[in-house]
Amino acid sequence: MHPALARLIEESGTIAVLTGAGISTESGIPDFRSPGGIWSRYRIIEYGEFMASETARLEDWRRRFDMEDQLGQVRPNRGHLAIARLLAEGRCPAVITQNIDGLHQESGVPDDKVVEIHGNARHALCTRCGLRHEIAECRAMLEKTGRPPACRACGGIVKSAVVMFGQMMPEAAFARAVRLAEGCDLFIAVGTSLVVHPAASLPIHALRNHTRLAIVNREPTEFDELAELVLNGEIGELLG
Ligand code: APR
Repeated sequence: MHPALARLIEESGTIAVLTGAGISTESGIPDFRSPGGIWSRYRIIEYGEFMASETARLEDWRRRFDMEDQLGQVRPNRGHLAIARLLAEGRCPAVITQNIDGLHQESGVPDDKVVEIHGNARHALCTRCGLRHEIAECRAMLEKTGRPPACRACGGIVKSAVVMFGQMMPEAAFARAVRLAEGCDLFIAVGTSLVVHPAASLPIHALRNHTRLAIVNREPTEFDELAELVLNGEIGELLG
């Protein structure tokens, strides 16, 4: 681990960690806003369009199945493992993540210590009754009928369990993330451009409580001048 970050961690009591897509790129999953990232390849499908258009649902499911195939082959990397160690050592009560890939859980962090503020792509939910559906059954339904998956219980529209633009974030998860940010002595943002709100407001919640802020990211962010430590480089190197 970079010595300056190790020293900050050493000096701190409780640590809060917020991760973004940048922590998963070394596992082979593209992030969103780097050159070649997801938003340079796919147009954003917002929640309203998904719910209104069968064509949009078919396109979104095509992307989800591609992602599920990719996630089946990827493994957590040194960045995930370093964060898992922080939790295992009791320094960090839970990791707040914007990621939907489930790699923090795969790195050994218990489910209840991963605060997924943008949901999770590894399963789907009925938008009417909330019933959980597995990605494999959604794929089987679409391959059988050529139509987007419908809830096996109520016939409602089934959607990946991720938070889409235009959709409310999971209130309980975000409230927990705010408590973690407000209750820590050191807030570390890892692999996020900090451009999407309200996730990007979490460092502000921490700073209001005179918490120390560290940012570990390849590119600069607009929060850098508020941070006590900014490490620009590869996460695996800096955290590993
Ligand atoms: N090491 C260090 N930094 C990296 C690495 C790496 N190996 N790979 C990428 N990065 C950095 C990029 O430079 C970028 O600044 O990680 C950041 C990732 O930023 P984004 O692609 O914007 O991802 P994120 O911040 O997680 O996006 C937030 O936007 O589209 C929505 O819901 C989506 O959760 C996502 C949210």
